[in-house]
Amino acid sequence: MATKLDPWGAVSIDDYSKLFEEFGISSFEEVLPQIDDPHLYMKRHIIFGHRDYQRVVEAMNEKRPFAVMSGFMPSGRVHLGGKMVMEEIIWHQKQGGDAFVAIADMEAHSVRGISWERCREMGIEEYVLSIIALGLEPSATIYFQSKRGAVRDLAFELASAARFSELAAIYGFSGETNVAHMVSVMVQSADILHPQLAENGGPKPVVIPVGSDQDAHIRLTRDLAGRMRKFLVEEREGYVSLRGKAAGPELIAAAEARLKEMGYRKVKKYEEHVDVFDAKDAGEVEEIARELEVEAGGYGFVPPASLYHRFMTGLTGGKMSSSRPESHIALTEDPEEAAKKVMRAVTGGRQSLAEQKKLGGEPEKCTVYELLIFHLSEDDGELGEVYDECKSGARTCGTCKKEAAERIRDFLVEHQREREAARERLSEYGL
Ligand code: TRP
Ligand code: SF4
Repeated sequence: MATKLDPWGAVSIDDYSKLFEEFGISSFEEVLPQIDDPHLYMKRHIIFGHRDYQRVVEAMNEKRPFAVMSGFMPSGRVHLGGKMVMEEIIWHQKQGGDAFVAIADMEAHSVRGISWERCREMGIEEYVLSIIALGLEPSATIYFQSKRGAVRDLAFELASAARFSELAAIYGFSGETNVAHMVSVMVQSADILHPQLAENGGPKPVVIPVGSDQDAHIRLTRDLAGRMRKFLVEEREGYVSLRGKAAGPELIAAAEARLKEMGYRKVKKYEEHVDVFDAKDAGEVEEIARELEVEAGGYGFVPPASLYHRFMTGLTGGKMSSSRPESHIALTEDPEEAAKKVMRAVTGGRQSLAEQKKLGGEPEKCTVYELLIFHLSEDDGELGEVYDECKSGARTCGTCKKEAAERIRDFLVEHQREREAARERLSEYGL
């Protein structure tokens, strides 16, 4: 099988492929060739899936406006999993995207009962300092949910389009759920959509990099974005239909006039919709509808796109968890401690050295190898070598762990130095 000698075997997406079928997540492979200088996570299949990301890629390639946004709940220490989202935000900013970072204090307060002071403290100490240290530029908008009026207002608007029954189905809400928890879900949708408000430059493609466990939020928000639209544009057999969902007769008339102005000749107006017979595709009519909608005071939201990355295995095997320090490496932990954790990590090595020499190791089951792929090696050639040497039995886990431990120590020392430098620059980010 081809996967046998694949240095990315450790990030096999087998367990994730059911997400494609069950939930309609698209495979990342299909958009990868269109990206000029893909991030390591893209090349290494760590980012394995997406929704609608091709819209973002097109904007990126055509130098049109786009944005990237994600959020962090200030409920514990950031570990290497959080670093992945941070890197993805920073990469998109470097490609020309507007970057938005939410510190989800309303969520942490309502769901975890964390005090506002503690949210503030952890938000800055754990998340903000690290993302700045990793390279987020000051043109980014970093905000606390509770301090951002536009987000809270939008959350209220979105709440009028959301039904309790669907939130109950998605999040398991019941009669016992506190209402602020439900509000915080609406705030999260508002986080995702607010880069498209007029004050932030209006409708545009926005990508939300998250772990695949967050897909339910994305789906809900995409639905809500659609429900806020005044127009619905659909491709039909031989024509494009523009329907006024909440448009009213005046907007329908305005749409007809605009389409004719734009040079369409075969336009037929009905009471609640306009059919266009000479449009190339639904896309161009969609853009006209969006513009009109915004002129009329509507949102014109583009459905938000998302990227899904695979999770790292915990260093102890099993899941990486914030509540089990042995399983993860925090960005703020003592570099020496971190190095020790790597020395104790679960590898794909055999019972004995003799057996390892004979059978070779199993890098695809090795958390140390995973650390290299996800965080500690930028060099694909080097990774290929480690992989081959491991497979052939030429490499021993002792050497491997020592090298990885050294790298993680160096990385943390450097990162923590950058964090202290970031502390002096918080005001540049309006914090
Ligand atoms: N709910 C996310 C978490 O638990 C945090 C979050 C808040 C978020 N707002 C967001 C994530 C917007 C992505 C986009 O970590
Ligand atoms: Fe993992 Fe290295 Fe051991 Fe191979 S030799 S199993 S890559 S630690």
